[in-house]
Amino acid sequence: MNASGLEEPADSRATVRHGDAADARAVAELHALSWRTAYREFVPAEALGDGLAEERGQIWELRLTVDYGEPAATPELLVAELDGEVAGFAYLVPEPDGRVLLDNLHVRPGLTGGGIGHALLTAAREHLAERHPEAELYLEVLCANTRAIAFYEREGGRRTGRQEGVFPGGFVLPEYVYSWPAHATS
Ligand SMILES: CC(C)(COP(=O)(O)OP(=O)(O)OC[C@H]1O[C@@H](n2cnc3c(N)ncnc32)[C@H](O)[C@@H]1OP(=O)(O)O)[C@@H](O)C(=O)NCCC(=O)NCCS
Repeated sequence: MNASGLEEPADSRATVRHGDAADARAVAELHALSWRTAYREFVPAEALGDGLAEERGQIWELRLTVDYGEPAATPELLVAELDGEVAGFAYLVPEPDGRVLLDNLHVRPGLTGGGIGHALLTAAREHLAERHPEAELYLEVLCANTRAIAFYEREGGRRTGRQEGVFPGGFVLPEYVYSWPAHATS
């Protein structure tokens, strides 16, 4: 545990903390970089072009500055830091149906495989246990993203659905839904 009460990654030089609007730019840059690296084999090349960084910049600026009203409806950004830089992030979105969507989980290319993803997912589950104890955690992962799927299965996620994911730019790719029941989140 660190000072924020969040899980320490296996790489003990990294820490996980809660994020805010000051993180928008760094998170947007890492989100675009992770797509350009890890998603190159999954998504059409035009989705990774010049517009990607600007699109991610706009999304994260909006996400981290908008007022969601009540705390129970407010998404949570978790940031992993290493040597003062954003090394990964997770974004949790409470849904109207009572579940919580893990909308993004990305670790900086070059730092994957070092336990940072595990620490972020553990921190996400701890956050749920504390703030949304009755909520099921779920996420959507591209069917082609076999490394991330292996990671989620090792982390106890159960495959609970398959759907067509619609992405910015309008392309559609098959995804699996993985879930963690409410009482498995602590
Ligand atoms: C999936 C991801 C978040 C996992 O975080 P991580 O820090 O690499 O995970 P950990 O170190 O805690 O665990 C490593 C495991 O993750 C899996 N993994 C998934 N993607 C990986 C990658 N690009 N490189 C290395 N391992 C990866 C492997 O199963 C690995 O298992 P292993 O140690 O037996 O080889 C991270 O690898 C990542 O950001 N990948 C690219 C973006 C992505 O696909 N995000 C998921 C979107 S749904």
